[in-house]
Amino acid sequence: MDHFLYRDGELYAEDVPLREIAATVGAPFYCYSAATFTRHFQLFDEALDGMEHLVCYAMKANSNQAILKLLGDQGAGMDVVSGGEYRRARAARVPGDRIVFSGVGKTEDEMRVAIESGIRQFNIESEPEMEVLSRVATSMGTEVPVTIRVNPDVDAKTHEKIATGKAENKFGIPISRASEVYALAANLPGLKVIGIDVHIGSQLVDLDPFRLAFRKVADLTEQLRAEGHEITRLDLGGGLGIPYERSNADPPLPRDFGQVVREEVGHLGCEIEIEPGRLIAGNAGVLVSEVIYVKQGEDRQFLILDAAMNDLIRPAMYGAHHDILPVKEPAPGEEPATYDIVGPVCESGDTFAKHRQMPAVGVGDLVAFRSAGAYGAVMASEYNSRPMIPEVLVQGDQFAVIRPRPTFDEMINRDIIPSWL
Ligand code: LLP
Repeated sequence: MDHFLYRDGELYAEDVPLREIAATVGAPFYCYSAATFTRHFQLFDEALDGMEHLVCYAMKANSNQAILKLLGDQGAGMDVVSGGEYRRARAARVPGDRIVFSGVGKTEDEMRVAIESGIRQFNIESEPEMEVLSRVATSMGTEVPVTIRVNPDVDAKTHEKIATGKAENKFGIPISRASEVYALAANLPGLKVIGIDVHIGSQLVDLDPFRLAFRKVADLTEQLRAEGHEITRLDLGGGLGIPYERSNADPPLPRDFGQVVREEVGHLGCEIEIEPGRLIAGNAGVLVSEVIYVKQGEDRQFLILDAAMNDLIRPAMYGAHHDILPVKEPAPGEEPATYDIVGPVCESGDTFAKHRQMPAVGVGDLVAFRSAGAYGAVMASEYNSRPMIPEVLVQGDQFAVIRPRPTFDEMINRDIIPSWL
């Protein structure tokens, strides 16, 4: 469920017409619903009810500080994967003891800044990383809590670019070597090994791979405990998918995911962490764009929008589907049109949808890409020297620009022409 619905013939974000926001900030722009973010976070929180837990929002999905503040105020923790994300979370006043640090390539500088300013745990992904963290923590005269990310060699049955739990992927240590690696970690100064971490991929629409992975983690917990390790925390990652196409069968809900967690690892008495990103942010955002031209090709009509692949790269990068709706509600019984929906960027990959049936629209009309709240704005670039588009947050009947559109001068003046040219 989300809060982008037609009302009085036009699409609203909560109680604000998207048309009104467009008139204020100009198209294209991202628009987020605070109520949807909050609701999705709460669904996960409730799904783990009865188990000691922390929902650590994977902020890579959408890292605007307004969103982090909104979720942080609800009690969310954060899953960060870079020094930049760590600093952003802290700038949004998320306490350090609610931040977990994931990622395969943490640098010494990133470790140091997180230790200095406060961290809940590091999720370690390799032996070399473990040794560096041990050295950094020891040099700072401290001991840091760590989990070790295991790669369970489970097929997540998702797009190959976002699957992470197979042996061929770069993530985690092979679960078959866990015993050896935990023994090594236990002997390193500056590290306090407290748990196990796993994350098998993103946009999973089937619970079976989760179940398989969590079962392997449960077995490993018992094995490591028998080997003398104190395993008190399990970080089970993120990855629950969302319904990008309204017409498709609905994927499982957070409460179904919670049930799998309970069944597979509930008996171990561990504190549970999860790292959902997409399910919290995805359907909490739309991308609003204006039709610039409708162009007749040889055998098709092109809808040329003012948004492009640099603003929303998911269709170009993963062949991802986003529903695209007119902001003005179509009249009942209106004949749909068929378009190739494209942006102005100079490559054919700048295509949002091919042969897409949708209500007919014309020049100057606004359209909304649904499910654009996750991995939308965060993956945007200035390719073709197109300034990053603004982000707007709606709460009830109020809205605010939470990241303005830079001026052309702001974008251009970052370059420096050396004096010797
Ligand atoms: N935890 C870790 C360690 C991760 O690597 C990820 C996502 C998550 C949690 C959150 O997963 P989620 O709940 O959002 O599925 N850009 C791609 C998605 C990349 C996901 C990367 N890791 C896309 O647009 O589909």
